[in-house]
Amino acid sequence: MVQNYPRLGVNVDHIATLRNARGGAHPDPLRAALIAQSAGADGITVHLREDRRHIDDRDLARLISSIDVPLNLEMAATPEIIAIAREIQPEAVCIVPEKRMERTTEGGLHVLENRANLSSCVKTLNDSGIRVSLFVEPSAQQIEASKEIGAMAVELHTGRYCLPGLDPDMRERELLRLMEAASLADSIGLECHAGHGLCFDSVGSIAKIPQIKELNIGHFLMGEAMFLGLGAAIKKMKKLITNARNGKLETEETEHK
Ligand code: PXP
Repeated sequence: MVQNYPRLGVNVDHIATLRNARGGAHPDPLRAALIAQSAGADGITVHLREDRRHIDDRDLARLISSIDVPLNLEMAATPEIIAIAREIQPEAVCIVPEKRMERTTEGGLHVLENRANLSSCVKTLNDSGIRVSLFVEPSAQQIEASKEIGAMAVELHTGRYCLPGLDPDMRERELLRLMEAASLADSIGLECHAGHGLCFDSVGSIAKIPQIKELNIGHFLMGEAMFLGLGAAIKKMKKLITNARNGKLETEETEHK
């Protein structure tokens, strides 16, 4: 099958957050993943946090045995979670910095500062046949260090670019940083992914960056699912991504502005 880039990875963590608010079985993240897959998601992404605040081990087992598209597991570089990844064998892992009190992943990894732990984690996962990406800020230093420790990919943090109310000049500068970072990653043989905070309005300019092969999107899609339905929100996002990559940049006026 010909792969159209960038792939869309749909993060279904928030479905589990909603389920856990009542402690029952509804809504089911697996059902969301199957709807996402039917609507054109190229992959499903989940973050197994150390505190299991949304996705838990049972969700992971059900997802891996039921979905047909690749599973991308976001995780901290800790022995417990590495052992789980090796056992369940997702297609890919994205290592993120994880802080117990944060609401969502707040910044990229400091690859240089955590070089010893990250490089042994990357090696262990690579040896198990799992593709590893590192979630980093669009910084040359972090990208070069990711390559040096054996990562297959980097996922560029788009959170700053997507910040609501950011000064337009700063947003433009951040877009340039992302473009330069994607070009650097590609030139040194790293697959380039991007994600965090993307919505209908911001996705086009990121999807247009030619070196970006994958976008991971969760929060906005799950929120928009409440208004449009999950399948329709994903189809709309896919269309914006495909159009942008094919040179048809359109922005969407949405209620979240
Ligand atoms: N990529 C990574 C590494 C993340 O940690 C997250 C948040 O779980 C995302 C992408 C998706 O971000 P958002 O939920 O803001 O779309």
